[in-house]
Amino acid sequence: MSDLISRHESVIAPVIAFDTDIEIVASEGSWVTSTDGTRYLDFTCGIAVSNLGHQHPLVKGAILDQLDRVWHAGGVFRYHTLVEAAERLLDITPVGIEKFFFMNSGAEAVEASVKLARKTSGRQGVIVFRGGFHGRTMGSVSYTTSKAKYRQGYHPLVGSVFVTPFPRPFRWRMSLEDATARAIDELHLMLKHEITPGEVAAFLVEPLQGEGGYYPAGREFLLELRRLADEHGILLIIDEVQTGFGRTGDWFASQVYDIRPDILVMGKAIANGLPLSAVGASAELLDAWVPGSHGTTFGGNPVSCAAAMATIDGLADVLPQVPKLSEHAFRRFNELKDEHPTIGEVRGLGLMIGVELVGPDGHTPSKLAIDEVRRYCLAHHMMVLPCGPDENVIRFIPPLNVSLEDLDLGIDTIAAGLEAYEG
Ligand SMILES: Cc1ncc(COP(=O)(O)O)c(C=O)c1O
Repeated sequence: MSDLISRHESVIAPVIAFDTDIEIVASEGSWVTSTDGTRYLDFTCGIAVSNLGHQHPLVKGAILDQLDRVWHAGGVFRYHTLVEAAERLLDITPVGIEKFFFMNSGAEAVEASVKLARKTSGRQGVIVFRGGFHGRTMGSVSYTTSKAKYRQGYHPLVGSVFVTPFPRPFRWRMSLEDATARAIDELHLMLKHEITPGEVAAFLVEPLQGEGGYYPAGREFLLELRRLADEHGILLIIDEVQTGFGRTGDWFASQVYDIRPDILVMGKAIANGLPLSAVGASAELLDAWVPGSHGTTFGGNPVSCAAAMATIDGLADVLPQVPKLSEHAFRRFNELKDEHPTIGEVRGLGLMIGVELVGPDGHTPSKLAIDEVRRYCLAHHMMVLPCGPDENVIRFIPPLNVSLEDLDLGIDTIAAGLEAYEG
């Protein structure tokens, strides 16, 4: 055990299970460098955060420049980057999003979105979708059902939260149409048997479940949520913490699906690695959140806001190439699926691609396969993460500005890992 790891273990809580013991000392673009000088292809983006890769010059420049001016103001003095970051978000967020509230983490933004929905609607019910991940704080973990262990030991959780199925065509051995119909059916049954629509403050949904296994919701399912929301005065909260900022091929998956959120939740890639998150909503909703109803000390940090603006500038240049890279990656993974029985399904949007690994029956989740493939990748200096309740789905999230050469190198490494596993 290295000196750093043993010191880490003496003073850091073990609750975050680090994926590797690799100690990194430098990073650039799609690569990180360890203490012994080995370079690793980083297709984790710090869990879908550094969509522009590491040390992006525009973002770094904006951070350094802002450091020389103001790096903390709290809710005391007014400052430019807060207002300017919101103005920039206005340009890229879906129609109907008019004002913003900034915070630090995704979980905090999810919490805020539900507080906003409850406060402004006067209703308490929240409907969430099985397999969703919304964070770890007491409120957000109450909406999280991607794995039961995240909730284990923390009951009673926040009340009046109702969980209904999210379409999972591959797991249910169904077409997307049938899985969508089943999930919609279950939602209608819930509104008949468990909570009346008039008591529901919000639907909280990921447009493409991340931690839950990279399952896209599909437009029809989201359309039905929108329709029910409009019919019953329910607020549609779309959690784009992982899908946002170019990951799914447009600024937000809501735009890919052409679905209007009432409340948009953002985090992760918003500032390409500096802590920042936000909720966006109509002026009518956010204006109803009167002073004192909610608050933050660090939220909307001046440096993080400067980084967010530079991230938006950088992504604007990169976004046009995402569909091309996505098409290339999907084509290659689908070719691999034809060659490797271990691949059960390839799914996703943009550069948020899930490759589900299965056992010899073509359906049972295989943790063994993914462990072996990931071990192979790491031994060949490439890092990818798993997702899904069985942790058997390769979470393929390269930086959005990855070169075609590095993209192919990553896919080749996974292919060689599958080859080695299948023997
Ligand atoms: C969709 C979604 N919502 C919320 C969160 C929580 O974000 P954070 O870890 O920044 O609190 C995550 C984190 O993975 C997420 O993927």
